[in-house]
Amino acid sequence: LALALPALVASYLIGSVPAAAWVARARGVDIRKVGSGNSGATNVLRSLGKGPALGVALFDILKGALAVGLAHLLGLGPVWAAVCGVAAVLGHNFSPFLNWRGGKGVATSFGTIAALDPVVGAVVFAVGASCMWLTRYVSAGSILGALTGAAVSVALGRPWWLVVVVAGLSTLLTWQHRDNITRLHAGTERRLGEPKSSKP
Ligand code: G3P
Repeated sequence: LALALPALVASYLIGSVPAAAWVARARGVDIRKVGSGNSGATNVLRSLGKGPALGVALFDILKGALAVGLAHLLGLGPVWAAVCGVAAVLGHNFSPFLNWRGGKGVATSFGTIAALDPVVGAVVFAVGASCMWLTRYVSAGSILGALTGAAVSVALGRPWWLVVVVAGLSTLLTWQHRDNITRLHAGTERRLGEPKSSKP
């Protein structure tokens, strides 16, 4: 247990590294002032293109997986590993490097879930990516993937702590997408590949 607190702090700090904001800044772009204003891979795709977006997505996924891996490495057990993954997502969403703001936690939540339970992770990926592919809405795919993760964890009889963590991450992720949900309702959400317009 003496290792749990340092592991939690380290996980939070790993999560808080704002890859999207820093990659954009290196190219002279303020990620909070372009596109959706979100510090995430989707907005990097919109404003900087595919290469940087893929890099940011992989890095953000890795943050969640790293936090879980660190807890395992320290011999902390699965519940602490899950809590460390949550800490990484909180670091991503509420980063000290971005005035306690940040992204929506899609990639980092996915990295956490996939590292904790690769089967649930695979289902989340399949459902989320299919929805993104079919609708061209990254936000809708992210929300549907996350909610599916919670449902699948229950359906597969996973341990209570995994169900709680996946459901908690899904709830947070959905809340972080509240502006996207408003735009989806209004029909103003930008689709993947949609050229720049008046839409946010
Ligand atoms: O990366 C988060 C995604 O689900 C939505 O991003 O920029 O369209 O708000 P964005």
